[in-house]
Amino acid sequence: MEKILVIGANGQIGSELVEALAAQHGAQNVIAGDIGAVSLYGAARYQRLDVLDKKTLTHLIESEAVTQVYHLAALLSATGEQAPLKAWTLNMDGLLNILEIAKDRLQAGKALRVFWPSSIAAFGPNTPRVSTPQTTVMDPTSIYGISKLAGERLCNYYFSKYGVDVRSVRYPGIISFKSPPGGGTTDYAIAIFHSALRGERYECFLGPETTLPMIYMPDAIRATLELMAAPAAKIVNRSSYNIAGVSFNPRELAKEITRQLPASLAAFGIDYNSDSRQAIADSWPQSLDDSVASRDWGWKARVGLVEMVGDMLANVTVDSEQHECVV
Ligand SMILES: NC(=O)c1ccc[n+]([C@@H]2O[C@H](COP(=O)([O-])OP(=O)(O)OC[C@H]3O[C@@H](n4cnc5c(N)ncnc54)[C@H](O)[C@@H]3O)[C@@H](O)[C@H]2O)c1
Repeated sequence: MEKILVIGANGQIGSELVEALAAQHGAQNVIAGDIGAVSLYGAARYQRLDVLDKKTLTHLIESEAVTQVYHLAALLSATGEQAPLKAWTLNMDGLLNILEIAKDRLQAGKALRVFWPSSIAAFGPNTPRVSTPQTTVMDPTSIYGISKLAGERLCNYYFSKYGVDVRSVRYPGIISFKSPPGGGTTDYAIAIFHSALRGERYECFLGPETTLPMIYMPDAIRATLELMAAPAAKIVNRSSYNIAGVSFNPRELAKEITRQLPASLAAFGIDYNSDSRQAIADSWPQSLDDSVASRDWGWKARVGLVEMVGDMLANVTVDSEQHECVV
């Protein structure tokens, strides 16, 4: 029986991951942890915690006999650029705390399996942009991307030096409707649905041809669960796996939304006004080659653009505030 701790449970991914883990392992076996407000998302217990507080974290993991940690707390690409040192400290020290605790637990004979996500932001302007290979040039330019690349190397280091069972995927931009995104460069692909469902024009902060790799939340959650459930021997890559979902640009997304939108909302349209996030997006891949993840643990995306747009239009709840979306 697993005992699971999700750190960063209140976020865009955490809130849905906790729900999926509680359904899979039982609510009583999942602890939702976050520095923010109390929310359970289907778990039986919420624990307010700071991933930078190693002592409290160690005590929690020991006293609850936690066997799996999903460490999601981070500052993302756009918010990270506004506070680079804070982003570096949270993204690196948080991960190091978890890896150190996992190492110490292992040395005490108590295995702790760790999930930590990297991102397409770990690539850079000299990375091949189309069908980006698993192993390639990585020269990230944002502080977020630099922290993700360093994190990937740390995961590999703790596995090869100490045997820590750490697993990771490079998430593409994640599209979802339950929780707002946390400050990334792909957030436009969520915000646009809010404008569409209000029948308003959307001003996009990326240009029309900015193709980026994206993934629909159900696929992202399934990838996470499948990776963590795979036999350890199959996880050959201990830095981070490419996983592909669906690639599109703002023009293509707006076109598909328009095609599926009811006639009553036909006033929807898209205008372009690029901001500083354009430079970040321009340094990222357009599509990913995820054949290594397919080979090692059987990964395959299921949701394409048409199905994703249909599901978003059916489920996005329009509120008075326009959510700005982030990766
Ligand atoms: N959302 C995406 O599109 C995307 C894409 C690639 C990678 N990722 C990665 O996935 C992970 C989760 O992303 P997300 O979109 O859910 O982020 P998010 O910003 O929505 O959520 C992060 C959560 O971490 C919490 N947190 C912040 N500081 C903390 C601390 N010191 N201790 C404990 N909790 C803290 C926040 O309160 C928040 O609830 C991150 O590592 C991110 O880099 C996300």
